[in-house]
Amino acid sequence: MKELFLALTGAGISAESGIPTFRGEGGLWKQFRPEELATPKAFAKDPKSVWEWYDWRRRIISKAEPNRAHLLLVELEQRLENFFIITQNVDGLHQKAGSKKVIELHGNIWRVRCLSCRAEYELYETPLKEIPPRCRYCGGLLRPAVVWFGESLPEDALTKSFELSQNCSLFLVIGTSGMVYPAGYLPFIAKQRGAKIVEINPERTAISDIADIVIREKATKGLEQFLAKMLNF
Ligand code: APR
Repeated sequence: MKELFLALTGAGISAESGIPTFRGEGGLWKQFRPEELATPKAFAKDPKSVWEWYDWRRRIISKAEPNRAHLLLVELEQRLENFFIITQNVDGLHQKAGSKKVIELHGNIWRVRCLSCRAEYELYETPLKEIPPRCRYCGGLLRPAVVWFGESLPEDALTKSFELSQNCSLFLVIGTSGMVYPAGYLPFIAKQRGAKIVEINPERTAISDIADIVIREKATKGLEQFLAKMLNF
């Protein structure tokens, strides 16, 4: 079988597009409390506040453009037969950049799900006219179709990610603190199966100790360096 290459991306790859990360300098969890915004309990208690926060994030993301790091991964997909991106990000910037083989582990901020009729569809309206927004089919309460703390990940996305991680020969870990599971397990699974782990992150993370190559740079510069050296891009 053709060699398989993977990239696991986190909020850090979108930082250079102006989207705040969750942890570290200027991270969202410094200004907001995840348990008050990104949990089913928080939403049940106060859907309006949770939606106000998502509407604010949707506005930031709607103005964000993919950066060079996203574009380099598009080029990698075009040049390698077997390359997949597994992303924890919900901003859709990999797809906006042109990547086709993207697995979204935590859902997508542009998708909504109705709590009454379970319909799921894309809603790009920004800013939202009505908060909380209502289902276009039944008028029921909508929620963001993203994975909140304590919720399980989409079954198919998770199964595929585990399978790919067990069979890859190179695993790029870009812009993630590796603090959230099960995404954080993937590099360890790949390592166990003999893959080469490359971390691109300006800071040390939970993955650093198992990385064969550590590039202490931002995503754009780090990817440029890696691709130039390893794959003579
Ligand atoms: N380039 C590369 N990495 C960067 C950059 C950059 N320009 N700026 C910051 N980073 C790194 C930080 O050093 C940090 O290690 O990106 C990482 C961001 O970590 P987190 O904010 O924890 O984001 P992430 O790892 O994606 O979080 C995982 O946690 O809150 C939940 O569901 C949310 O998907 C998210 C998950």
